[in-house]
Amino acid sequence: MVNQPVSVDPQNDPFQYAFSNTARIVLQRLVHFRVLPSTNVYAKTQGEAGEPEGLVVLADTQTAGTGRFARSWHSPPGGLYFSILLRPSMLTPSETQLITLTVGVAVAKVLQQAYGVQATLKWPNDVQIDRRKVAGILAEQSLTGDHVEYVVVGIGVNVNIPLDDFPEELTSKATSLQEVLGHPVELPRLFGYLSGQLEYWYIRLRDKGFPTIAPHWRKFCTHLGRSVTVTSSEGIVKGIAQDIAPDGSLILSSPTGKQILRSGDLDYHPELP
Ligand code: BTN
Repeated sequence: MVNQPVSVDPQNDPFQYAFSNTARIVLQRLVHFRVLPSTNVYAKTQGEAGEPEGLVVLADTQTAGTGRFARSWHSPPGGLYFSILLRPSMLTPSETQLITLTVGVAVAKVLQQAYGVQATLKWPNDVQIDRRKVAGILAEQSLTGDHVEYVVVGIGVNVNIPLDDFPEELTSKATSLQEVLGHPVELPRLFGYLSGQLEYWYIRLRDKGFPTIAPHWRKFCTHLGRSVTVTSSEGIVKGIAQDIAPDGSLILSSPTGKQILRSGDLDYHPELP
């Protein structure tokens, strides 16, 4: 028999309280577990089973948290790990990256407005402070032909995690809110703020389209107009990051002309501005 994950009693859960105070329209139901392998995997299973849009899956820790390109996502207690099941019928399969960018704006707004930190966005899915990653976003979609059945968007935020607790390869690239602020942050409160902002920005994407969000994304982005390197399965491209395309791709001008990149890892080009 497969062990079922143990959920936290909703009657006595500060996360449920924070959630019900801030999210209602799209984000409808919260399930909160102490431990899950991955909140994205759990939410995808629910998506496959026909669960309607609006399920939020939260775990205090993950044993197999996953990032882009199947990398592992360090998920000790003290971080915030949750996934949202969406059914974005307004988007085509090639536009679902817009959800990642939109979620990035919501996370950066919360960090800036509620905690006063200068959060920035690095295409496509990193939220950074001082060029160190504080949060990551992983959107995974399920399609039937040309129709988007669902998108699960997972968000991992390094909150009350001391830098010493990160694996060695991350200590120069990652940070946590606690490190930046110099004190721990109340997780349910942060989760409440995020739920409210995520709902607001998702509804804006659905009803008004990405052109109304793009200016906010550009404001948070620090690499537009700068020399960057993008590494993807198709190779390494160097150039000036020009803009975001209407589908969320990165527009790069390189010595060989304009390039439109759908995915990849972006790095600042060290020798150039
Ligand atoms: C990345 O930066 O590569 C994306 C990281 C996404 C991590 C979150 S944590 C909650 C959700 N569950 C997962 O297994 N991954 C996402």
